[in-house]
Amino acid sequence: MTHTIAVRRAVLFIRPGRGRTTFGPLFVTPVIHSAKSSYPNLRMSTIKKTPGVLGDQMQKIGNTLAENFGGPLSKLGTRQFKLDECPDLTGKVAVITGGSEGIGFGVAYTLLKHNLSKLFIISVDPEIMAGAKKVIADELGQDKADRVEWLGCDLGDWNHVHQVAEIIKSKAPRLDMLVNNSGRGIMTPSLTSYGVDRHMAVNHMGHVILTSHLLPLMQKTAKDHNTTVRISNQSSNLHTAAPSDTQFASLEEINSDAGPNGQYGRSKLAGILYARYFDRNVTQKGHPNVLMNATHPGFVSTKQSRKDILEPYPLGGLAMKYGVEPFKKDQFEGAVPTVYCVTTTGDSGQYVCAPCIPEEGSEMSQNDELGDRLMELTRNLIAQKTRMDSVKRGCPMDDIVVH
Ligand SMILES: NC(=O)c1ccc[n+]([C@@H]2O[C@H](COP(=O)([O-])OP(=O)(O)OC[C@H]3O[C@@H](n4cnc5c(N)ncnc54)[C@H](OP(=O)(O)O)[C@@H]3O)[C@@H](O)[C@H]2O)c1
Repeated sequence: MTHTIAVRRAVLFIRPGRGRTTFGPLFVTPVIHSAKSSYPNLRMSTIKKTPGVLGDQMQKIGNTLAENFGGPLSKLGTRQFKLDECPDLTGKVAVITGGSEGIGFGVAYTLLKHNLSKLFIISVDPEIMAGAKKVIADELGQDKADRVEWLGCDLGDWNHVHQVAEIIKSKAPRLDMLVNNSGRGIMTPSLTSYGVDRHMAVNHMGHVILTSHLLPLMQKTAKDHNTTVRISNQSSNLHTAAPSDTQFASLEEINSDAGPNGQYGRSKLAGILYARYFDRNVTQKGHPNVLMNATHPGFVSTKQSRKDILEPYPLGGLAMKYGVEPFKKDQFEGAVPTVYCVTTTGDSGQYVCAPCIPEEGSEMSQNDELGDRLMELTRNLIAQKTRMDSVKRGCPMDDIVVH
């Protein structure tokens, strides 16, 4: 795929100093070891033809490899979805957070290639966005690039998120797809100006605000056009790194230092719980054509996995560079489960791993009470922290409550 290589070069190396580094410190080492040394000749045909318990075990191994790694290993999964299977999207409108680079760019590029009519991208860096638009213009044509509108916004700035949602509502006649993809990666803890853990504030709560403000437009789109609208939250298998005593009981708890993996894992656990909460409270309560799922893209070669990881692990990150990089998915392989979830799936409340394999996720991710507490805390914190403005316009969470 010549265009893929061109896109990766253009988008991944726009920002000076974005060197190729590595990802996933100690967490992935054993998996890679077993993939290489224990199952060197594993093929999908072997997996599918092997009967009985052994066959089941091999299917599980094949799925684990396909969910996490790129190239031939990604073909070992029992369920496949290819970006070429993305349906024609003529007339449809999408919003992607973090659509300017990495996995989000892979999703944006694919939707535009399949004739999406209008795309709003929310991200932070205008230089990165300019580079992304140039790649789209060069490879898909100026017409496709002109369909993209950029809205600069830090998802940790909740008032700004609300303003951006209002801009989208004022410009978009409909909204078919919402990709909640932006994320703070495995990095050291910090607080936003609201005094909330930045991982939770950006990866989860900023997206809840965006979704809650855009939801009425999506519900109207589903009704008026008799169509299915879809939301996808970018989670990660690292949701399993959330602290084992996670309760989502208070601000103090989510502001407690759980370390880089724990902070990240907690926010990714929230992404799955939110999808399952939404399914229970929106999809199953009168909106069967409004779906939300969470995804795991695999280990993907992006800025987050090559540069950001060095911030908490300057040595561990470097040590892993040569071990992990050859096994990672590229940004298009990483985009597959999200594209599946916002264009094709008929399910809601699932945790979909690359390429399109629904998994249970951790026990905590299946705990409905924990999900209810997370959303209660989310609602309370947003209302409390944005009270000055929300008094004027009503609680920003009002429109996520579906009766
Ligand atoms: N890479 C992996 O292996 C992997 C694995 C599992 C899950 N994920 C998840 O996949 C998602 C995409 O990550 P990626 O790997 O593609 O990383 P990436 O290449 O670093 O892209 C991250 C995108 O998010 C945007 N972003 C970051 N912080 C933001 C903020 N505060 N407000 C608004 N936008 C923000 C960035 O915008 P700017 O360019 O403007 O800064 C960028 O467009 C993340 O949620 C990540 O946690 C990644």
